[in-house]
Amino acid sequence: MKITVRLIISLILVTTLVASIFSFIQVHNEKERLAEELKMRDMILAENLQESVKGLLRPQSSTKLNRIVERFCKRKKLMGAAIYDKGGILLASNPDFSSELQQPIPQVTKSISENKYTSDFKMLIGKKVHLYTTPVDEDGEIVGVLLLINDASYIDTRLKGIWRHNFMRLLILSILIILTTIIVVRWSITGPIAQIAEWLKGMRMGKIDKPMYLPRGDIIGPLAIEVTHLAKSLALARAAAEEEARLRISAESLWTRERLREYVRLELGGNNLFVVSNREPYMHTKQGRKVECIMPAGGLVTALDPIMRTCGGVWIAHGSGDADMEISDNNGRFRVPPEEPLYTLKRVWLTKEEEEGYYYGFSNEGIWPLCHITYTRPNFRLNDWIHYQNVNEKFATALLNEISEEESPLVLIQDYHFSLLPLLIKSKRPDAKVAIFWHIPWPNPEAFGICPWKEEILLGILGADIVGFHTQFHCNNFLETVDRFLESRINWDEFSIERYNQLTFVKPFPISVVSPSSIKSTLDEEGIDIQSIRSQRDILLKELDINSKFVGVGVDRIDYTKGIIERFRAVERFFQKYPDFIGQFTFIELGAPSRTHIKQYHDLIAEVEGTADKINWGFQTKGWKPIVFLKAHHTHETINRFYKAADLCMVTSLHDGMNLVAKEFVASREDEDGVLILSQFTGASRELHDAIVINPYDIESMADAIHVAITMEPSERIERMKRLRQIIKERNVYRWAGNLITALVRLRITKTSVKKV
Ligand code: F6P
Repeated sequence: MKITVRLIISLILVTTLVASIFSFIQVHNEKERLAEELKMRDMILAENLQESVKGLLRPQSSTKLNRIVERFCKRKKLMGAAIYDKGGILLASNPDFSSELQQPIPQVTKSISENKYTSDFKMLIGKKVHLYTTPVDEDGEIVGVLLLINDASYIDTRLKGIWRHNFMRLLILSILIILTTIIVVRWSITGPIAQIAEWLKGMRMGKIDKPMYLPRGDIIGPLAIEVTHLAKSLALARAAAEEEARLRISAESLWTRERLREYVRLELGGNNLFVVSNREPYMHTKQGRKVECIMPAGGLVTALDPIMRTCGGVWIAHGSGDADMEISDNNGRFRVPPEEPLYTLKRVWLTKEEEEGYYYGFSNEGIWPLCHITYTRPNFRLNDWIHYQNVNEKFATALLNEISEEESPLVLIQDYHFSLLPLLIKSKRPDAKVAIFWHIPWPNPEAFGICPWKEEILLGILGADIVGFHTQFHCNNFLETVDRFLESRINWDEFSIERYNQLTFVKPFPISVVSPSSIKSTLDEEGIDIQSIRSQRDILLKELDINSKFVGVGVDRIDYTKGIIERFRAVERFFQKYPDFIGQFTFIELGAPSRTHIKQYHDLIAEVEGTADKINWGFQTKGWKPIVFLKAHHTHETINRFYKAADLCMVTSLHDGMNLVAKEFVASREDEDGVLILSQFTGASRELHDAIVINPYDIESMADAIHVAITMEPSERIERMKRLRQIIKERNVYRWAGNLITALVRLRITKTSVKKV
């Protein structure tokens, strides 16, 4: 049965039941009320009649009594009346009832015997009548009985009227229920579902590539969102398949998500991929009573999450969100992404002291400034080093547990937080194929040489079969560092290091982002039409309450390596050198606070804010200011809106392994427009030659670069952006993972090649 019919029948049944119960009660009450009314009336009339017949209740006065009765009935519009003596003998009555009342009726007898009135209904001469009897007494003695007869048929008529009236009401109500149900069901359920079905059919047949408006927040709201996602996936899958087909025909070898998935499926044959990093890809935090899931800022997560979504497997990371524990199972496991689980996140819990020493202390006050040449002095404390060693061991235990069932597992260790982990793993599981990817630069041997525990770190890293950096330059620095501080044989032909028969390859794997889409997907994660957002840069500026012809954007974790202050100074210098642009160009900085327990990071936020305020104070006019500093953790969707709205993006790192903001900006520009200003000290500058490459220490030339970007001919802008996008398309993150996994699976590792701690 159709849902509409089922709904209508159920509603009508319930309504009928309720209406019947209420009608019954109403009729019952009305009947009682009318009977009572009739009784009261007869009581008063009986009193009147009693007065008139007092002293006449004897057979001799029968004629007089008859006259009185007849007159009384006429005057009071009574149907009938009768008078009996105390023996029940009829003394008088009106002629209509003389024969029926000859014999005393039971009510009369009852009044005489019990000396009290009666009120009753009865059928007389084919009519429903009300009978009222009352004893007549003289000097305290019963001398007779009066009987009054009233027409009571109107009561039934009235009650029938009520039933009829309520039935009509029910009928109208039922019609309204039917109509309303049909309209509501059509409007809110069957209509939209039919629309969705029609739209999906169109999508399936490739006739539709536009989004459709689907009602949100309604009954089918969640379904609509899911369908939008599904449709988006379908469109992307179709585009990818078309792209694959195109590539097959042109014999190109582009890495795509599908190719990586298929490759991993064949090479790993159902085995898991294991990733270890400090930062987790999904962090659960408490916002009041609610738990929110955020994706932490930073290139590592941006790059690795799509890989894990594609390959599946287990990602082991520090559970640093304050709601992580309550969301995860007893083993710290949680399937992610939460909306469409594709891989397992295994969280490792650290104490406050461990986090303080290992993460803030040794990793970020020691190794981080050691590897980034930004003239920030590293701090090496023994206590931090001890925590660093312990946490590496803790992660080793977690990882060894995870891989205990796997033969020759593939392990990808991420970053400088885990320099000791490769050796800890290989010493226990020599069959594991282990790579460590160093996301930050590797300095020259002199710079690295100041680290008190340099040998331990190098030995830990060399436990890996493959050590990856973003650039050949960093590989060379690493090889030279090992050459300087460890006894080993460096093979510069194949970039490998041999120590006691253990071989480690050192190779560049420039990390990247997901390929720019070749179809212009018009839907974002929430199913919102992003093309309309892009064409509405004004809306974005209005939200910020500014008015500007040109917009620049910067996106960073607030870190002293990112050159944010230098960038702001360049903006200031730009207005000094090119005052015509005052009121015409606004630079928007999206800065995510990071590592704020470390004094330098804490102070940097204040310095960035202070610098922006000072520059704004010098130049701002009503409705315009040179710099908007949005200090917050921004979602990818928000960042994308800014990327798309900007005329230029500035990446001015003083030193950076790769910098994925540069690549994300390019990937987001489906309109093939926009200019990238890029620091020469980023790994990205080795690939993105069509950016305007600058030295962030040279404020003058950075100011000029902003001018060049804003005044660049549209044709040149578009040509540059097209070439940049082609580079990102070819060197995407699937290629990064594909190359790294290929290098790992090709290793020939025997169980005897144990690495010693
Ligand atoms: O760039 C180095 C790096 O460790 C990345 O690997 C990571 O994405 C980013 O810094 C974020 O840093 P943190 O995890 O300390 O917030």
